[in-house]
Amino acid sequence: MTGTLYGVGVGPGDPELLTLKAARLLAAVPVVAYPAPLEGCGMARTIAAAHIPAGRTEIAIRMGFTADRAGTEAAYDRGAAAIAIHLEQGRDVALLCEGDPLLFGSFIYVLARLGERFPVVVVPGVTSPLAAAAALQFPLAAWNDRVAVIPASRSEAEIEALLAAVDAAAIMKVGRHLPKLRRILGRLGLDGHYIERVGLPDQRILSLEAAEAGGAPYFSIILVHRRGKAWL
Ligand SMILES: C[S@@+](CC[C@H](N)C(=O)[O-])C[C@H]1O[C@@H](n2cnc3c(N)ncnc32)[C@H](O)[C@@H]1O
Repeated sequence: MTGTLYGVGVGPGDPELLTLKAARLLAAVPVVAYPAPLEGCGMARTIAAAHIPAGRTEIAIRMGFTADRAGTEAAYDRGAAAIAIHLEQGRDVALLCEGDPLLFGSFIYVLARLGERFPVVVVPGVTSPLAAAAALQFPLAAWNDRVAVIPASRSEAEIEALLAAVDAAAIMKVGRHLPKLRRILGRLGLDGHYIERVGLPDQRILSLEAAEAGGAPYFSIILVHRRGKAWL
């Protein structure tokens, strides 16, 4: 009998947004894996900390979180290999994922490597665009609105065309792309609602101007609605 790989969403930051199912699984599995920077334990492990009993085997999948695609792929190869050893020996492994595992989640790359060899269960998590909508009290969609989820790393022309084609959008991975996003929103006459580090003790809601002046972090999101308010 092999173990099961659990892809566990831990939500965007507030530990109370972890699901009951995630908490139950974390109390039960013998091995916990998570993506992590080269030093420290990373966002997902920090969010779930209170639910990981002492003495669990832990696998930190360390990577530089840079544009170095080859380095990132190699990190996932190493992480998947380390996880596979436990699964082969019948031990269940929970791979923690910040937010939801299947929306820009690291779990996707481990699923691609191990999904055909081992049983897999995915536990959805509260995803950051919806946690941002809650914190901003900003309805994303009403009636028959079209909503786009747009990574800010796409080109200026592409983001502008996407925003022009929908009613609302969640723009993720804002960080250093904020000046480009402000140009686009200005041209389209759209108001962007900015929030960073949702659910964490240092969460901030700022104007786009103030966010750009301070240097937006990677963990930031802009929500936009063509009508200003979804209910109008
Ligand atoms: C690699 S994606 C991970 C998304 C995650 N799987 C989810 O479901 O939310 C990282 C991006 O998600 C957004 N994000 C995740 N957590 C966030 C938070 N606590 N506050 C603001 N943005 C967050 C940011 O746009 C960040 O650049």
